[in-house]
Amino acid sequence: MKKVDDFRLRFGTQELVPIMIGGMGVDISTADLALEAARLGGIGHISDAMVPTVSDRRFDTRYVKEKLQRYKFNVANTDKSVVQFQLPELIEATKRHVSATMEAKRGSGMVFINCMEKLTMNAPKETLRVRLHAALDAGIDGITLAAGLHLGSFPLMEDHPRFRDAKLGIIVSSVRALQLFIRKNARCNRLPDYVVVEGQLAGGHLGFGMDWAKFSLASIVAEVSQWLRDEKLDIPVIPAGGIFTGSDATAFLEAGAAAVQVATRFTVSAECGLPDKVKQEYFRASEADVEVNQTSPTGYPMRMLKSSPSIGAGTRPNCEAYGYLLDANGRCAYIDAYNRELANHPEQRKLAVFDKTCLCTHMRNFDCWTCGHYVYRLKDTSRVLADGSYQILSAEHIFRDYQFSTDNQLLLPDAH
Ligand SMILES: Cc1cc2nc3c(=O)[nH]c(=O)nc-3n(C[C@H](O)[C@H](O)[C@H](O)COP(=O)(O)O)c2cc1C
Repeated sequence: MKKVDDFRLRFGTQELVPIMIGGMGVDISTADLALEAARLGGIGHISDAMVPTVSDRRFDTRYVKEKLQRYKFNVANTDKSVVQFQLPELIEATKRHVSATMEAKRGSGMVFINCMEKLTMNAPKETLRVRLHAALDAGIDGITLAAGLHLGSFPLMEDHPRFRDAKLGIIVSSVRALQLFIRKNARCNRLPDYVVVEGQLAGGHLGFGMDWAKFSLASIVAEVSQWLRDEKLDIPVIPAGGIFTGSDATAFLEAGAAAVQVATRFTVSAECGLPDKVKQEYFRASEADVEVNQTSPTGYPMRMLKSSPSIGAGTRPNCEAYGYLLDANGRCAYIDAYNRELANHPEQRKLAVFDKTCLCTHMRNFDCWTCGHYVYRLKDTSRVLADGSYQILSAEHIFRDYQFSTDNQLLLPDAH
């Protein structure tokens, strides 16, 4: 019986274990987690979401405090258009995060960065450009373009000396999105090095509407692969979303996928950035505890635990400190929702806002418990300890379980 380890992901002459740990925003996929994947011969991702905040936590910098100081005068103002990121600071923070990670890299694998277009940061093009360039400058092995169609992202990097040597990939959820991406970026004379096809069961934001349940990852992967064959384009296809066991992964590899991207199983690893008490929430979750909702101000549906503290929280918008989702005109759907509630309940001390959430604040605080559909199966991957909590796993244990397991088996950790 075949297992994942019988396959390799090939980039030119380089061969990798075909397991990629997906980017999980705002330091859920930490440098430590990505570095483990690379050490074990696969690919790990760090994320470029809210990097100044991540840098403050990781390196004791003061980017968030200073930004808040600069824009404090605007906190009570509903118009956030004045709140801008200072590009040199953004570059510095990104370089710090990426260089420290790349310097610590060991082993034959790679570390990529997940770069989301939806982080429009009140100046979409300028901020995206410097984030991409800074990551390349700091030696990242590759960039996965995510959360958006990225129709102009290759041209933004075209003048970088590493544009043709770094691995550049895109996440799509339909063949149409891939066709658009390739057509619009064609003038750069460069194809993506890989395509992640993310299906309807993934964690984080979904590239589908609220009718996500009628889609199937296997069908979208088949469609994308067929189109690539028809066009004679030799681009590795990497399915993602709901691949829970080594056997799930092997089935995709046997059908022609180049690798798989996985994430949810690693949310309960010691290396994952979620606080331990949140990891226990993920372990305990049942299927009925998971929902796909529209609380993200990005406009994309998002999957999360219904018990996420972010849902219903009436947090005052924190754009002066964060502001990552402000569009080119300084707007965010959460600001509108918050102000509506404020106007409707002027006497209320504690507001409740249910339709949208202040995603920057809640992702920063690990209060938006986004997860893949199969989060409720995590309990089958570990042991219950004497105090009733679940044993946290090592990333190596989970990685190797994907790599070597057969027959849909889940390897339990050694008892402590
Ligand atoms: C906690 C969590 C956070 C995520 N954050 C991001 C993100 O910031 N950017 C992104 O492109 N995908 C994000 N994803 C999606 C994953 O990278 C991955 O493609 C997907 O979850 C794979 O499906 P699986 O979780 O069922 O294995 C996230 C997933 C999870 C579970």
